[in-house]
Amino acid sequence: MTTQEEQTRAGLRFPAGFAWGAATSAYQIEGAVAEDGRGASIWDTFTRTPGRILGGHHADVAIDHYHRYREDVALMARLGLSAYRFSVSWPRIQPGGSGPVNSKGLDFYKRLTDELRRHDIDPWLTLYHWDLPQELEDAGGWPNRDTAYRFAEYAAAVHEALKDHVHTFSTVNEPWCAAFLGYASGEHAPGRREPENAIRGAHHLNLAHGLAVQAMNARRVGGCVNLYAITPATGSERDLDAARRIDGLQNRFFLDALLMGRYPEDVLADLSMELDFIEPGDMRTIGAPIDVLLVNYYSRFTVSGEPGGRASAAAAPTDSASPWVGSEHVSFVSGGRPVTAMGWEIDEGGLVEILTRVAREYPPIPMVISENGAAFDDVLVDGRVHDPEREAYVRAHLAACRQAIDLGVPLEGYFAWSLMDNFEWAWGYGKRFGLVRVDFETQERLLKDSALWYAEIIRQNRRHEPTDS
Ligand code: FCB
Repeated sequence: MTTQEEQTRAGLRFPAGFAWGAATSAYQIEGAVAEDGRGASIWDTFTRTPGRILGGHHADVAIDHYHRYREDVALMARLGLSAYRFSVSWPRIQPGGSGPVNSKGLDFYKRLTDELRRHDIDPWLTLYHWDLPQELEDAGGWPNRDTAYRFAEYAAAVHEALKDHVHTFSTVNEPWCAAFLGYASGEHAPGRREPENAIRGAHHLNLAHGLAVQAMNARRVGGCVNLYAITPATGSERDLDAARRIDGLQNRFFLDALLMGRYPEDVLADLSMELDFIEPGDMRTIGAPIDVLLVNYYSRFTVSGEPGGRASAAAAPTDSASPWVGSEHVSFVSGGRPVTAMGWEIDEGGLVEILTRVAREYPPIPMVISENGAAFDDVLVDGRVHDPEREAYVRAHLAACRQAIDLGVPLEGYFAWSLMDNFEWAWGYGKRFGLVRVDFETQERLLKDSALWYAEIIRQNRRHEPTDS
């Protein structure tokens, strides 16, 4: 028996039909920002604002996926992926965020999904991974309720055009980031520091999700959240309160809304602001039934109610304020675990914790891990990238997935973040999350050791699947 076979026996054997995936997002990989009628997004504007992106990087070219998608799908096929999660760029479909669709924009996603299906790779489409059309931001952005209705129209148009190509549509990637990094801390586009508007934005992103679910009436639709395991630094009352608050804003605000159609009372009370933007009927819309919950998981937070820690879990790349609206006093301390190149603590136990929690505390819902992975400072030596840390990270988190399944969690797939190195938001090209290395000068792709290892795990698992699946 080979070492790899021992590995699968030791916890990496998954049920037949488990989705073996990798994920990306439009702005981070596509480039071609001015081609085929694409309009400007808030990220085009933000990357041109001095001081907002490390190194002054932008994604005008990114990793040129718009032109190289065939080569990239071929890489996915080499890995043996059975699923691929990508996002559609709203300003390609509606350059100004409303009105008639731009068929050339839709055609790109038709070509991409055709190519995926030719390789037996199931396309998982995300409608919004943060690239809001700039015109909608100029009209008020997510704090403006109207944006949610524009999103539902956009979702319906994409669904109509691609429903024969795509089984699983998901709405908003990580609404927490879109709202709180975009409108409170200012670390992400559009870079506003308006705490109350961040809450309005969060509600409207949830509303956009619910309206889109209704407007698409898709065969299979999901919502996406980024969940963290959270530990109080000590058992003190102040630390316990800090943990309740951060868990409330990060996890429960979105889980309770999407899965139970309500906001947690304690979180609303922490906000101490007028909540008149939550209109009658909104919560029922937001709680519209979905078929699958997409969970992005990276790390655990250790939090304290005492001053002295950091304002957020890891150092921000650029000058930014606290994203924790109403709980700005909470500080983040080290939990003493090893960290990735992002400074994010590695804790696969947290993944078991959050998955079993969702299964225990919410109505039953199938889940997938829609993002999980790590940045490390890769080195290219003689045409190879030896990245044992990334392999260890993915292995540990896959074993955590397996453990969660054994504990009864209906977990149906795993998408590594990311398929390829790409534009990592405010960090520019400084952080590499890919299984595939990309040379940002030549656009050359190269499978890292972790990719070869992941391919082998997939191969061993899929070997046991019925051939017609
Ligand atoms: C998530 C984002 C994704 C990527 C990873 C590292 O929050 O959804 O685009 O930036 O983090």
